[in-house]
Amino acid sequence: MNAHASAPPEGLEGVVAARTVLSEVDGQAGRLIIRGRSLDDLAGTTRFEDLVSLLFEGFFEDLPTDLTAALGAARAEVFAEVTHLDADLAAHEPVEAVRALMARLADGDDLATALRLIAAPAVFTPAVIRIQAGQRPVAPGPALPHAADILRMLTGVAPGAAQIAGLDAYLVTVSDHGLNASTFAARVVASTRAGLTSAVLAGISALKGPLHGGAPGPVIEMLDGIGSPDNARAWIEAALARGERLMGFGHRIYRVRDPRADALKGPVRALAASGGGGAGRVAFAEAVEAAALDILKTHKPDRPLDTNVEFYTALLLEALDFPPSAFTCVFAMGRVAGWLAHAREQLAGGRLVRPQSVYVGPEPRKAA
Ligand code: COA
Repeated sequence: MNAHASAPPEGLEGVVAARTVLSEVDGQAGRLIIRGRSLDDLAGTTRFEDLVSLLFEGFFEDLPTDLTAALGAARAEVFAEVTHLDADLAAHEPVEAVRALMARLADGDDLATALRLIAAPAVFTPAVIRIQAGQRPVAPGPALPHAADILRMLTGVAPGAAQIAGLDAYLVTVSDHGLNASTFAARVVASTRAGLTSAVLAGISALKGPLHGGAPGPVIEMLDGIGSPDNARAWIEAALARGERLMGFGHRIYRVRDPRADALKGPVRALAASGGGGAGRVAFAEAVEAAALDILKTHKPDRPLDTNVEFYTALLLEALDFPPSAFTCVFAMGRVAGWLAHAREQLAGGRLVRPQSVYVGPEPRKAA
């Protein structure tokens, strides 16, 4: 350390980087508020397109009261981009292929751009999954509700009510979550006035990391590695002894259970009851969760580590027939709504985001 080196100015560690009307994450109480509504009230009762309307309210002048038709038209419009998914692009991880197709969309700040960006991961993800499986993509049905159309584009058949409700509950649950890493990235880019497409590309790039939106795929790997409830404790203890983290547990803000985990548990059980995934899989996952929570208590006694959203996300998306390799893309289908609302909020009132760094390098050397 030299004379320039100093501790961060008091308070810089927890500095407030944005004021927002969009959502509040209460880490002590384990509560999530989205635009004045508790997640408990929204998940399971609200369609994703209506949640988009709620998030966008006041940020776009020409917002229709019901977004179903406009979003359907946007899905049909962006489907044209799927022809650019060549063999090279299709060989990438799904989230990288989806991001590359999204990068083809024009930048802009208006509602039409925002709706194309909401439509893009919803249309490109099923197309990438099908092409990677050697199947032809299914074109959107613009008249359908958003979640129903995503599932139809994925499987080629009309989904059941429990499937549609499950996907809506998931997309609503992950739509916004305070200033998480991807939303912060999106706000920083929006603050430069680069445009909504650029902001969303920053968001999806941050989301793909395993410490953020990349966790649910590895949750399935963990469950498959454990195999049976009897093996849970030994497997988890060995993983922790190797210095690994348990995917689907722990959170930067929540010091109690992530409320999104419980918002997804009901739909997961409903799907299992309707035949998707099976009740045995849910019971097995609950046994693994219980073992993990018990072991984590002694593994890190001074750091509360509880179940986060990704644990039940993995089970839900598996039951909906999304392959684990594409789970991050499905997360992006929901979170894109939050990125866009935050980007517009930043444009409406914010200045260029330009945090300061604290120099801890050497003093300039004198010339010899
Ligand atoms: N399993 C085991 N140990 C964990 C852990 C987990 N899931 N999460 C945190 N820890 C441990 C860390 O190893 C660290 O221990 P150390 O002090 O001995 O190094 C301690 O708890 C504090 O972790 P830290 O990295 O400071 O917490 P964070 O706030 O930066 O991390 C997460 C938050 C989410 C990145 C972290 O909990 C994690 O990696 N979880 C697994 C990935 C995941 O599920 N991500 C989805 C989040 S919604």
